[in-house]
Amino acid sequence: MRLAINIDHIATLRNARGGREPEPVGAARMCEEAGAHGIVCHLREDRRHIRDEDVRALRRSVTTRLDLEMAAVDEIIRVALDVVPDLVTLVPERRRELTTEDGLDVKANKRTLQDAIKAFHEKKIAVSLFINPVREQIEAAREIGTDVIEIHTGEYADAADLQLQTGLLAEIRTAAALAKSLGLGVNAGHGLNYTNVLPVAAIADIDEVSIGYAVIVRAISVGLDRAVKEMLSLVQQT
Ligand code: PXP
Repeated sequence: MRLAINIDHIATLRNARGGREPEPVGAARMCEEAGAHGIVCHLREDRRHIRDEDVRALRRSVTTRLDLEMAAVDEIIRVALDVVPDLVTLVPERRRELTTEDGLDVKANKRTLQDAIKAFHEKKIAVSLFINPVREQIEAAREIGTDVIEIHTGEYADAADLQLQTGLLAEIRTAAALAKSLGLGVNAGHGLNYTNVLPVAAIADIDEVSIGYAVIVRAISVGLDRAVKEMLSLVQQT
């Protein structure tokens, strides 16, 4: 099982003060040094966290694999074709959402997605489609030539009780098996954290999990003790 880390919220924090820190490139390097198999960033149309120059800087510095999440819209496609990430993950995007809320409706957007996939393949960029664990969507994704699907685990992660969660996990497992049998690569992500990741990581047909928020939140909490102690020793030096 590979682990890809989404570093969008490093940029969220940087943008909160309008300065340069924390740097997405530095954070990506730390993730890679810690053993992450890839770095993910989402260039949103509103540029609320990651910016064009971040994607270009990450392309120069990432030594594992760079996965660029994006909507299939012309302006962002142009950036992606210029930057040439290792993988593009196409997601639906709504301006007012706090994070990606739903999987793509591949069936309803076949033409747009197919054109985008073709353009990426001409540049030798692999493509992943972020979809719900639904048979028709997986089959449609295969039909239009994607290389990988990313199964949306958000509903599983947010399930209100164990019974519901177990049912949703079974849907993810079935979806992963179907996608694998169709020759697709299988990623999974959204809402995965330190308490719900194990059953997903145990699904043999899933190649990679993509995790952002939980890891950045954890980094803040496990790092806080040391950060306070270091500052305390500075302010009490004299
Ligand atoms: N995969 C996709 C397609 C996403 O849009 C996101 C959120 O940016 C993630 C994975 C990571 O989700 P989270 O931040 O909840 O771990």
